[in-house]
Amino acid sequence: MTQHNKTLGEFIINKQAEFKYSSGELSRLINSIRLAGKIVNHEVNKAGLVDILGSAGAENIQGETQQKLDIYANEVFIKTLINREIVCGIASEEEDDFISIKGGNKKNDNKYVVLMDPLDGSSNIDVNVSVGTIFSIYRRVTPAGTPVTLEDFLQPGNQQVAAGYIVYGTSTMIVYSTGHGVNGFTLNPAIGTYYLSHPNMKFPEKGHIYSVNEGNYVHFPQGVKSYIKYCQTEEDDRPYTSRYIGSLVSDFHRNMIKGGIYIYPNTSKNPDGKLRLLYECNPMAFLAERAGGKASNGFKRILDIKPTELHQRVPFFCGNEEMVEKAEEFMAQAEN
Ligand code: AHG
Ligand code: MN
Ligand code: MN
Repeated sequence: MTQHNKTLGEFIINKQAEFKYSSGELSRLINSIRLAGKIVNHEVNKAGLVDILGSAGAENIQGETQQKLDIYANEVFIKTLINREIVCGIASEEEDDFISIKGGNKKNDNKYVVLMDPLDGSSNIDVNVSVGTIFSIYRRVTPAGTPVTLEDFLQPGNQQVAAGYIVYGTSTMIVYSTGHGVNGFTLNPAIGTYYLSHPNMKFPEKGHIYSVNEGNYVHFPQGVKSYIKYCQTEEDDRPYTSRYIGSLVSDFHRNMIKGGIYIYPNTSKNPDGKLRLLYECNPMAFLAERAGGKASNGFKRILDIKPTELHQRVPFFCGNEEMVEKAEEFMAQAEN
């Protein structure tokens, strides 16, 4: 059998031994995410057909209108994770507070917490553009057998044991890492099986794409404005190409494959940026670093930030190492 015929299920079994806590629980956890991804994928694919589109009317804790599919995806992932009895707590972009889960024997002795953005890029659902799910996995820091606390969720990203995303795009893919490289699996919808299609994903050595919502340009910090000017200047291998989908998952996925930088800076309107540290930036930063890239808040490594609250936001610069470092140079210069 060639490597490209390997299924995600086979891959998980083969790789289990590489993981430092190889009790099989993490494998079961990834398995449950793979299943939830298939269910959400099914719903996303028929979004244009059934009356599931549009806003459900409710607002999440950040005051943003929730789309129906956000709520659906949130419920599917939570239910699937709870059923497998591996997780002691879940924090979601769509939940005001974290959820504490008791194990099968009702003693809270599960070891893992999951943090997630169940549906990323939700403004793109109505227009048939790719959306995704982002997940981040940690071992709890409080003792097993006690209820999880906020402390279990507020760990710096460098403590993640695994992270990944599902992109519901022209094909549906799951891309994840347990710390040993980043691997991508494509769903064959006819038989409901994911196949290893992108082994050991790496950013190409040079990137030529910059992804930023330039509509907010006037509100950007000077360092970002100068970096954008640099990207647009005709010199060496520049100008770079501009690509922005508005779904972090899809923008990141394209940039990792083709080479590029994604920026969501702080703005005069959103001084902490827009993206959430725990549900979006940490998992993407974990993947970026494992794929030879870099992730920063413009000044320091995302994965070293000690979170202080669940829904914390952070400016995000992520992609090819060289490009992120260049952007950081402009940020530092503008500070002085
Ligand atoms: P979500 O749909 O989970 O709220 O996330 C949307 C995020 C991210 O996916 C995307 O890159 C960014 O918001 C787009 O924001 P703008 O529309 O402000 O560019
Ligand atoms: Mn999101
Ligand atoms: Mn979301």
